[in-house]
Amino acid sequence: MNYFISFGFICLLVIKLVIGLQFEDCGSTVGKFTSIEITDCDTSKSSCVLHRNTNVTISLDFQVDEEISEVKSVVHGVIVGMEVPFKLPNNNACVDSGIECPLKKDQQYKYSATLPVLKMYPKVKLTVKWELQVGNSNGTDIVCVYIPAEIK
Ligand SMILES: *[C@@H]1O[C@H](CO)[C@@H](O)[C@H](O)[C@H]1NC(C)=O
Ligand SMILES: *[C@@H]1O[C@H](CO)[C@@H](O)[C@H](O)[C@H]1NC(C)=O
Repeated sequence: MNYFISFGFICLLVIKLVIGLQFEDCGSTVGKFTSIEITDCDTSKSSCVLHRNTNVTISLDFQVDEEISEVKSVVHGVIVGMEVPFKLPNNNACVDSGIECPLKKDQQYKYSATLPVLKMYPKVKLTVKWELQVGNSNGTDIVCVYIPAEIK
């Protein structure tokens, strides 16, 4: 009996992993993320639909391994292997992003930022590469996440 219950559970888990949205870590170095939310993103699908001419909000729960005084948001769209920078209205993650700098070791943070999806963007499937970097032209990734997406 237990065996069947476990088997069923594993099947569900596998189906969820295969079908659901996956946020891949692309090189978090001095931190790690625990969960991600994106407005209007259906996580049962394999990618997030980003509608043009809207502002998409991403929120990311993370923690850091050491104290960090300045944090910068860096966002790229990866389209067939090429990284195209996305313009953010505010790339200083210490300002208006729900986190207070300096970041302290092992504290839980909830970062949130707005990504304008402009009308002029092409309708493409892409991977959004969202990085929080150590500011001060250091550039070390605090967290880096790949978000499978599609601009529509
Ligand atoms: C997105 O947000 C910016 C800043 O608040 C605003 O100026 C702009 O009109 C918004 N764009 C859309 C499509 O809602
Ligand atoms: C960049 O920041 C990380 C994390 O705080 C630190 O470990 C590293 O030494 C810094 N590198 C430079 C070149 O300042």
